[in-house]
Amino acid sequence: MASILTVQNVNKRFGGLKALDNVNLEIEAGTVHAIIGPNGAGKSTLLNCFIGRLEPDTGTVIFDGVSLLGIKPHEINQVGVSRVFQTPEVFGNLTLRDNVMIPAFAKRDGSFRINAWKGVKRETDIEAKAMAMLENVGLARKADEIAGQLSRGDKRRLELAMCLVQEPKLLLLDEPTAGMARAETNTTIDLLKKIAETGITMVVIEHDMHVVFSLADRISVLAQGTVIAEDLPERIKGNPKVQEAYLGGAHL
Ligand SMILES: Nc1ncnc2c1ncn2[C@@H]1O[C@H](COP(=O)(O)OP(=O)(O)OP(=O)(O)O)[C@@H](O)[C@H]1O
Ligand SMILES: [Mg+2]
Repeated sequence: MASILTVQNVNKRFGGLKALDNVNLEIEAGTVHAIIGPNGAGKSTLLNCFIGRLEPDTGTVIFDGVSLLGIKPHEINQVGVSRVFQTPEVFGNLTLRDNVMIPAFAKRDGSFRINAWKGVKRETDIEAKAMAMLENVGLARKADEIAGQLSRGDKRRLELAMCLVQEPKLLLLDEPTAGMARAETNTTIDLLKKIAETGITMVVIEHDMHVVFSLADRISVLAQGTVIAEDLPERIKGNPKVQEAYLGGAHL
């Protein structure tokens, strides 16, 4: 199998804190790769190094032959990477339909600005695409509602539609089920499985082990900025290093 994302020797310090300590990672194309680890392990920091939000002090991040270091947010989308952050980021005062149209325009045109007077411009094909994505994530009937009023779970689904409309090759998800009740989590697992089946590669950061073991083809475990294990899901649970990292902290 070919690797779609290659992370080599990535280091990142915040003052005296070594948030990432020589991280190496290979993500195989077409797989779901989970990154787990206790709070503060460096998971979000690592993800931010994939999308140009943070620049590693040293190391390389290569996606599909392209270096992601120093890349701009709109360039990230152009190369085929989309991401969902730990805290949902939607345009709270716009409708769901407009929320999904914006990233669709951004992908097609390289940039997009909202006209303060006219709002999001209307274009039939982009609108149809946005509606299809809302349908995919089960939010079509709420297309004309204002995004700010959505539940956290619905905001997450909206974010997924905003990613998928860009037809990414790689989808990065930071705690996609955080704050969800069990039923909502299960709906999200089914949705993510459906997305994975379309062949999109996914990197999922997650604390909920039910989600991790339902989705992941492979798991990397981060602890104190270091990858302490990388293996098939069935082999991760029994790994003594992993058990030790979780002692007294989150549960595996
Ligand atoms: N911008 C920043 N400035 C200073 N320290 C930071 C910054 N971002 C993260 N850190 C620190 O780096 C470490 C790793 O944080 P990170 O958010 O990557 O952890 P995480 O594994 O995502 O944790 P969680 O599971 O709680 O989301 C933590 O100690 C955190 O406090
Ligand atoms: Mg985090």
